[in-house]
Amino acid sequence: MAGNPNVKRMRPNLHLKAPISSEVEVPEVVQPVNTHTHFTDPSSLPDCAGTLTIPPDQETYTFTSDDLQDEGEIGRGNFGSVNKMFHAKSGTYMAVKRIRSTVDEKEQHQLLMDLNVVKESSNCEFIIRFYGALFKEGDCWICMELMDASLEKLCKYVYDTILQRIPEHILGKIAVATVKALNYLKKELNIIHRDVKPSNILVDVKGHIKLCDFGISGQLVDSIAKTKDAGCRPYMAPERIDPGMSKGGYDIRSDVWSLGITLHEIATGKFPYPKWNSVFDQLTQVVKGDPPLLKSTDELPFTVDFIEFVNACLTKSKKERPKYDQLLNHHFINQYETEEIDVESYFSETLSKMAEMGFLPYFQT
Ligand SMILES: Nc1ncnc2c1ncn2[C@@H]1O[C@H](COP(=O)(O)OP(=O)(O)OP(=O)(O)O)[C@@H](O)[C@H]1O
Ligand SMILES: [Mg+2]
Repeated sequence: MAGNPNVKRMRPNLHLKAPISSEVEVPEVVQPVNTHTHFTDPSSLPDCAGTLTIPPDQETYTFTSDDLQDEGEIGRGNFGSVNKMFHAKSGTYMAVKRIRSTVDEKEQHQLLMDLNVVKESSNCEFIIRFYGALFKEGDCWICMELMDASLEKLCKYVYDTILQRIPEHILGKIAVATVKALNYLKKELNIIHRDVKPSNILVDVKGHIKLCDFGISGQLVDSIAKTKDAGCRPYMAPERIDPGMSKGGYDIRSDVWSLGITLHEIATGKFPYPKWNSVFDQLTQVVKGDPPLLKSTDELPFTVDFIEFVNACLTKSKKERPKYDQLLNHHFINQYETEEIDVESYFSETLSKMAEMGFLPYFQT
């Protein structure tokens, strides 16, 4: 769907060193640096058991990879794969993301302790629950709440396969959920997401809409940023591509831009920029060009409120771009915060049809 080069790569080695919540400036294009004076082969490290905490009772279990039954791959990203797994002792299905890391034994223990902080404090209905993590042969296994599909997959089906559109009232509920999730992460956990895009917004047949891949990741994302070049990050704000445009550390307003691009894409079924053939193309268009504002057309009409909301997120100058408080006061958000919409029927019908057509091989109702 996205007309951009979203190159899937092999898992790079990650150095998980940064603090969990970071407003530290991280350059987007940095050569990976080997910070280890003594190289340790991570796969030779002893495996590190983790603790699973399963809601709603917050029951805890010590677990190793042997306690998880693999039920197949859900998808693959740039840094690893996500599988559906079953934890028999608690009777819980979960999504497990496996990422290659190069941390030593001491750092593994520190990382697991840091992740426990996220586990205990993430309690927002619009954020994916994090259950726990472990290390196996040097890979970090991140266990989280299992959802049915991402908006990326849903859009491919709705726009490209059945040639329909996502109705604006559903987009309204998605916007409310995402802004509230981002605001919660910042206010309660002091986490900036840094990777807002359709594949990181997940939905299920119950009508839940949840943001994932936030700073579980605090450490992981920083390391990822170091190995990932701008060409692979099409949702990135102009000031992130060209840090000369704005001073200071990473600001939540860069996530607001990514939210604007994401909403534009899921409202139209198309990535809002024309195809980029090189990082230079992206640089030219995003940094030098006008922002890709949303417009109403005969085929795809939108309300003035929705257009205004999306285009406010796509304000090119970071200084003038709204922050979450302003977005939460926007008429479009206020309307969908209160309006009763049958999101459950929409998602359960759409996801069931997607499953019937083989789009969701791991799907189970
Ligand atoms: N908790 C989850 N429940 C269901 N599906 C998930 C879950 N977490 C991730 N996925 C899906 O698994 C696939 C791979 O996710 P992953 O985060 O590795 O990559 P991505 O978001 O597509 O891209 P990137 O690597 O650039 O972040 C995506 O389709 C994603 O939507
Ligand atoms: Mg993701």
